[in-house]
Amino acid sequence: MGRMCVGGFRASREARATTRTSFRDRSDSTSPSRCSQTTLRAIVNRARTYRVHLLVSAILLGLLYLTWPRSDGLRPIRTSDPTVALGTKWGGGVGADEGSTSASTSLRRKGLAEHKAAAAAAAGSSSAPSFSTKVREEIHHLAEQSLQAILRTRFSPSRDDLARMLQSLPPKQPTLRFKVCNGFANQRLSVVYGVLLALRLGRTPVLPVLMRDGIQRTDATVTAHGANRVPFEEVYDLDYFLYKLAGAGIRLLEPHEAPHPSAYTEVSLGSLGSNVSGSLATTYGHLQHLSIDCPLFRMTPAEINQRTDEPVIWAVLDAMRPAALPFSYVSRMQQAIRHLGAVNGKAATKYNFLHLRLENDWVEHCKRWSSIPDGIVRDNCYNNTETIDVQLRLFAFSTDVPLYVASYWNDVDPERANNVMGRLVDAGYRVITSNDVFPEAMKNEDREIRALVEYYVGFGANRFIGNSVSTFAALALLERRHQKLWAAYYNGGNLPVVPYLPVHKLPWVFTYNSWSAKYDYMLKAAVRSAAHFNTLQPYCIFDGNTSSPIGRWLVDNNVTLIRHVPRWREELLRKAQSRMKDNVQHSHLYKNPDMLVSTFQRVDLPVVPILDQYTYVLYTDADVYFRRPIHLDDFGLPLPRSVSMSYEFAKMFPYNAGIIMANLPTMRRNYKAFLAMMLDNDDGLYYPNYGPADQGIINKFYEHDLRNQMLNQAFNTKPYNDFDPDSFLIHFHGPKPHEYLSYLDTGNCDFYSVCEQGFLKSLCQYVMEWQAYIPEESAMLRLGDLCSWLTNPTVTAVFQKRTGLLAQTQAVPHDKRTAFAQRQRLA
Ligand SMILES: *[C@@H]1O[C@H](CO)[C@@H](O)[C@H](O)[C@H]1NC(C)=O
Ligand SMILES: *[C@@H]1O[C@H](CO)[C@@H](O)[C@H](O)[C@H]1NC(C)=O
Ligand SMILES: *[C@@H]1O[C@H](CO)[C@@H](O)[C@H](O)[C@H]1NC(C)=O
Ligand SMILES: *[C@@H]1O[C@H](CO)[C@@H](O)[C@H](O)[C@H]1NC(C)=O
Repeated sequence: MGRMCVGGFRASREARATTRTSFRDRSDSTSPSRCSQTTLRAIVNRARTYRVHLLVSAILLGLLYLTWPRSDGLRPIRTSDPTVALGTKWGGGVGADEGSTSASTSLRRKGLAEHKAAAAAAAGSSSAPSFSTKVREEIHHLAEQSLQAILRTRFSPSRDDLARMLQSLPPKQPTLRFKVCNGFANQRLSVVYGVLLALRLGRTPVLPVLMRDGIQRTDATVTAHGANRVPFEEVYDLDYFLYKLAGAGIRLLEPHEAPHPSAYTEVSLGSLGSNVSGSLATTYGHLQHLSIDCPLFRMTPAEINQRTDEPVIWAVLDAMRPAALPFSYVSRMQQAIRHLGAVNGKAATKYNFLHLRLENDWVEHCKRWSSIPDGIVRDNCYNNTETIDVQLRLFAFSTDVPLYVASYWNDVDPERANNVMGRLVDAGYRVITSNDVFPEAMKNEDREIRALVEYYVGFGANRFIGNSVSTFAALALLERRHQKLWAAYYNGGNLPVVPYLPVHKLPWVFTYNSWSAKYDYMLKAAVRSAAHFNTLQPYCIFDGNTSSPIGRWLVDNNVTLIRHVPRWREELLRKAQSRMKDNVQHSHLYKNPDMLVSTFQRVDLPVVPILDQYTYVLYTDADVYFRRPIHLDDFGLPLPRSVSMSYEFAKMFPYNAGIIMANLPTMRRNYKAFLAMMLDNDDGLYYPNYGPADQGIINKFYEHDLRNQMLNQAFNTKPYNDFDPDSFLIHFHGPKPHEYLSYLDTGNCDFYSVCEQGFLKSLCQYVMEWQAYIPEESAMLRLGDLCSWLTNPTVTAVFQKRTGLLAQTQAVPHDKRTAFAQRQRLA
């Protein structure tokens, strides 16, 4: 085996792959050093092509190789890995950062196990039918949702079911009582926070009493007292709640099961400083029974750990569903809406839901909230409210579907109400409000019951849109998206609640097809790295055969496949061909029509059905991987007005369209004008001064915004630049890993001097992280091993000295930049 490594420098790829795989299984093997000789030769070879003094370098490297202490070759990431130093510049959460090194390692092991399991599964043919069902389901999600079954499936555990379930989960002795506060959504979230906190402290949470009316007339917190108290079971289905939570391993005590209130020590959270969970654990850990005030948003974002807390948050939210009486109100309201929305005597089959915050208290709230002097950008509280009809069009709300508009109408300035509702009616919407459909019996119900009913009427809607600054709408949006239901917000910007409720997934979109198998390994690393951090919702605009291995793989890895044929396809191809003969330089743009259309697909982001619910999506090419959890706010506030992109090879405009932070409502507003400019081209889809293809036109159309607000390079980090320990997203722009490997083997690089540049800069540091995501790719493991050898500082120094450090700007000759960019477009 060792002989093969040394002697088989030009042996077949398969032979090398086998070699690597087999010695990987022997932890005490000495072979890695033998294989390092391969690298040595590779470097020497490179050195020769640069007419560097071969003999001296070979001797030097040989000496080095003999004396250099080896890393054990089996570790994908060394402990000195720079990821440890994360989280300063970009304010990444403490919890998110810790242990990313070991996490990657374990992922690799897990990956291997999964790989074996997958192979075993593939051997049996039983997975085939479930696969086709799954694809159909995914594609079904693209269609408009009919009224959701979520409320209709009323599985009700009996008391016996519940007792059996609870028996296996005896309550732990220290307990925690907590209160809830404020309005409907805040009370709902108070329960989430109370349970989270109790579990953090190793205590059994006691079910809180809820509140009938949590209206906040000032910024002060409102909690339950006297007649304002309402038992949990009048609002939510108690048995279901306890049963579902027990199923998730969480035991709650009903108030009567818990020790008498006199056994409790009361602690005010306000007195505990910023680290509430830490203080409760250290200062009050010895007390058996602890009672706290309302825990809502009391845990700071730094105290919340997305990885461990997200399952708890969903367990609690999913377990809360309306009790029987409010549920009957929901059903009656839905019926009334469909009935009122009837056309030609036929009841509507579905309705859309707009939660419109335009009450007087909201106007006041926005003024206060937007002017908090803490330097945080709060620019989206009241935006687009009075032009809501425009937003509904941008979010593709059909006028054929009745529109329920929820607001607290008693507190809305009549002139404002008339103006806004008038605009909706003029725009053709058939508008229905609570005044039309609140069941008579409900008119005397408490405020929060009415809010709960509207919340679930919103849950049952076909489309839901609200204001992301409103906790009610933000929570509804998060819960709906969690259930794969369409949900949007009309006010632009971010979702301010997310740092306190880290369950929001930023949509991540890429395009792929079934005929680029040689790039599959990169795509797999991208998808697995995203899944590892679990803050993105992956979508693939997929072309070709969804039953192909990669199509199946994507579906199995929870990527939603989107089929989309752009309406401009034929015209684009005509434009591309029109100058084929005169324009040899640009000819490979249309060598392959499918590839050309595929690279242009990103301009259709704003019109792809399932994506039309999002305000922001992250678009990337497939040759990327993620290094950290990414949240919307990480892109920096204010968020881009249209699109945001980063440098290409040179640090200048035009920018690289391989990674785009896209504001979809803006792109939708500009879509027609954009297409017109795109197709008004007689240069074979080359845009003079802006570059080729999709990248050229995006730079041309959005030049002003792009220049105004560049995407931070931490989201489009290239391996031929200096290492960036804080980078979120690595983009193998230019040479792909297999091309870097082949450069080491053959000395040839199709990308001018970019391959040398990669090895001299940061490629190897990234590759060693990245390879952990594709443990089944033996060639890439070999690249990783070569890299771990090459990144030894002394080797690096000699390599640099001997090859001569190329100036970055010379890596791609000036007159070749266009060709370089062009090749990128179709890589
Ligand atoms: C909070 O305090 C606990 C206990 O003192 C500590 O372990 C934890 O790291 C602290 N968390 C934060 C975010 O400061
Ligand atoms: C909201 O409107 C204000 C005032 O017009 C504007 O400055 C701000 O950029 C808008 N915010 C968003 C997120 O669009
Ligand atoms: C799609 O791929 C599958 C699996 O490779 C193959 O069996 C099937 O024939 C392909 N379908 C088409 C239309 O090419
Ligand atoms: C896909 O999602 C399901 C449900 O959330 C999860 O159990 C499963 O582990 C995921 N699969 C992969 C490969 O990530």
